[in-house]
Amino acid sequence: MEDSKSSDFVAQFYLDCGFATRALHAGEHVSQPHTPAHTTPIYQSSTFIFQSADEGARIFKGEVPGYVYTRMGNPTVLALEAKINALEGAQWKLTHPEGRVSTLAFSSGMAAISASIMACASAGDTILLGNVVYGATEHLCSQLLSRYGVRTVEVHTPDLKAVAAAIQANPKAKAIMFETPTNPTLEITDVAALCKIVKGVNPDCYVIVDNTFATPYLQRPLELGADIVLHSTTKYIGGHGTVVGGVVTTHCDRIKDELYKVIKDIGSSPSPFDAWLVNVGVKTLPARIDRHCANALAIARFLSEHAKVARVFYPGLPSHPQHELAKRQMAQFGGIVSFELKGGFDAGKKLMDAIRIFTLAVSLGCVDSLIQHPASMTHASVPPDKRLKGGITDGLVRISVGIEDQADLIKALDQALAGV
Ligand SMILES: Cc1ncc(COP(=O)(O)O)c(C=O)c1O
Repeated sequence: MEDSKSSDFVAQFYLDCGFATRALHAGEHVSQPHTPAHTTPIYQSSTFIFQSADEGARIFKGEVPGYVYTRMGNPTVLALEAKINALEGAQWKLTHPEGRVSTLAFSSGMAAISASIMACASAGDTILLGNVVYGATEHLCSQLLSRYGVRTVEVHTPDLKAVAAAIQANPKAKAIMFETPTNPTLEITDVAALCKIVKGVNPDCYVIVDNTFATPYLQRPLELGADIVLHSTTKYIGGHGTVVGGVVTTHCDRIKDELYKVIKDIGSSPSPFDAWLVNVGVKTLPARIDRHCANALAIARFLSEHAKVARVFYPGLPSHPQHELAKRQMAQFGGIVSFELKGGFDAGKKLMDAIRIFTLAVSLGCVDSLIQHPASMTHASVPPDKRLKGGITDGLVRISVGIEDQADLIKALDQALAGV
């Protein structure tokens, strides 16, 4: 794991390169620089050989870098970590002072989220949590971490006055965690302004951003003052719907050490094969995201003029209440579009059954387009009044716009809408 050559290699050769070049080259060959393989191999080995008893002892003591056991570090996993680090953090600093990368890969987005919260908070501590977050994140905090003495206070983070009130009421909060844009109504939080408010009250409160919807190509929270940024790599970073994974990047040495303890002691490391799949996927991230965004913007415009659509949620539309903030904070506006059908619940279900090309499935960020109806699917178990508070009406539909031909996607929506 602690291969000091690896991050130096990345720093030396890719520090001054653009995002697309880093996505392709950073991290490749970092672990085994002398292998002739063109692409990073899958090191599908649970344990690693020591050249001598003395070397084994020195690796265990941390005196020399080296691999021991895949739960604690693996060359394929390190390649992914170095690449994500170059994408998320190259503008700020690429290497840990000791030469270790400051990104750690996990077996899922939820493993990344739970490790991040555990790295910040202990029994008796309070954390602030965005009130519109992925369901399992809310459940983790309210049902699981609460049993271990971590208290959660919900806050509507797009509302900076609410953020100020929450941190003033909980000045010892250890962390604030939120998503921007949110799911499925795509509200935006001003990351830089939030960091200023929170750190102004408690400089030791860690700001954690779930950047899954935006990806580092569109938004880099560490550059805006956040301490920890994480992703479900299951989504855009992997990009092909083939793998479940997560990553966390931080510029804080203490947090990185705590995250590593969680990986080691809880065992939330990814398999080498899964890390390899994510690593292959992320190479095309900029090309894919450009096309996701172009298709999503065209679809949002089409829907906003459609007679059967009451409202469209997309930060790239001037009608979005936080369009100006999105323009400032994000390079483009992402690939997720939500819209509300005038016909409500039944219209939503009808659209799901009628539509072609869009696959009826949850998740997002795949190369192909996905569609889902939150009221009858992902949010069906949420009480209707709570759903409505989060903007999830019965007629709300969420699409994860893929990279198919734009005209085909618009035609498919047009035909399906004609039947609802
Ligand atoms: C924003 C966000 N964060 C985290 C997760 C959890 O990721 P995973 O399913 O990889 O554990 C999801 C899953 O949908 C998500 O949408």
